[in-house]
Amino acid sequence: QTGPTGCPVSHGAAAFDPFSDGYQQDPPEYVRWAREQEPVFYSPQLGYWVVTRFDDIKAIFRDNITFSPSIALEKITPTGEEANAVLASYGFALNRTLVNEDEPAHMPRRRALMEPFTPEALRHHEPMVRQLAREYVDRFIDDGRADLVDQMLWEVPLTVAMHFLGVPEDDMDTLRQYSIAHTVNTWGRPKPEEQVAVAHAVGNFWQYAGKVLDKMRANPEADGWMQYGIRKQKELPEVVTDSYLHSMMMAGIVAAHETTANATANAVKLLLQHPEAWQAICRDPSLIPGAVEECLRHNGSVAAWRRLATKDVVVGGQPIPAGSRLLIVTSSANHDEGHFVDADFFDIERDNASDHLTFGYGSHQCMGKNLARMEMQIFLEEFTRRLPHMRLAEQEFSYVPNTSFRGPEHLWVEWDPAQNPERTNP
Ligand code: HEM
Repeated sequence: QTGPTGCPVSHGAAAFDPFSDGYQQDPPEYVRWAREQEPVFYSPQLGYWVVTRFDDIKAIFRDNITFSPSIALEKITPTGEEANAVLASYGFALNRTLVNEDEPAHMPRRRALMEPFTPEALRHHEPMVRQLAREYVDRFIDDGRADLVDQMLWEVPLTVAMHFLGVPEDDMDTLRQYSIAHTVNTWGRPKPEEQVAVAHAVGNFWQYAGKVLDKMRANPEADGWMQYGIRKQKELPEVVTDSYLHSMMMAGIVAAHETTANATANAVKLLLQHPEAWQAICRDPSLIPGAVEECLRHNGSVAAWRRLATKDVVVGGQPIPAGSRLLIVTSSANHDEGHFVDADFFDIERDNASDHLTFGYGSHQCMGKNLARMEMQIFLEEFTRRLPHMRLAEQEFSYVPNTSFRGPEHLWVEWDPAQNPERTNP
């Protein structure tokens, strides 16, 4: 087998399948061979060049002109005609937002919409996040057993995301139901018979997002990032376009929700698998911010991201032709021995943990990173204070097969409610 440059494809490259269980369970381990022997390779199964080392990936993020982010939200598995017709029947037109916008449009928009992400603006959301976390823990604290994903981590970040965006309370339930379909539609490999059902859900999500946006336009002074965008549109109509607002209303929920839900589930799992680290943060909560960063590095919720080469270029010594698609495996970069000493070792006091590329890097770096960090810190503060004696239950972990968004579908934990600190020391 040969790649697009005419070079033969190695055995590892030919076998690479990001929808396989190996990738789903542990992406950096799955591509260890590549990181060590063939850091940039062409995957015939995916039709992408796969990049696995820290320095190469950071250099790609740094140059968003040569490596365009325009394909970041493109469907990785093209859908069939029937599903496309269903999407069209809903007027589905998800377009450029921020994460997939090229320059020169991207930077002015990013700047115009940044203020709600400043630390001062985010502080104002902290009581809401803490209250939600407490309410959800209250519901199961006496049970001795919980699936943290189903009973808390799926819903709380979604509710926080909707508050942040400014979604009216009455619309939250409907949007909650639609949001999952979007991930499968974009990053997954739905079977032909699933594609049509997914397309209906995505089409409904799109239309509903439009209705919510109209409601927001009627009350543009309300709190919320979307309302902030609506006000900015009056000042800068060329920068904050209608198409952007409608697309962001839908993509924003996904960007803020699943990433954070998955990141927290991964973090709790990892910490409970390392009891000495868990006990350390229970004893000393000032270690939590560092632990969050190390969890994002070691087992983040975005495993890989995408870029399009706009010209012939060389990455890590490998010539790549213009028009090539690149899968940049950020989770592999985060385990690169060339950047992180003893990279597989989980160390909540690691000095350079925050160098991880889970939030991307450079001009498109995640705008919501501090909101995500705040949520993760609050969840861990609440868990370590109220359920320091919790442990992982016996279970197999499953993941929704996709290249990019990664977190266990369920996370069962258990504890002895008689030992709850609130009972023993009320
Ligand atoms: C962009 C990851 C949470 C909003 C991104 C990118 C990644 C990412 C990988 C692309 C970076 C690049 O191309 O360089 C994550 C992870 C999160 C998270 C792992 C949670 C742990 C959030 C939250 C929000 C958010 C809570 C809140 C609204 C955004 C936005 C962009 C973005 C608006 C586009 C920035 C731009 O292109 O200029 N995120 N994200 N994210 N994220 Fe997040």
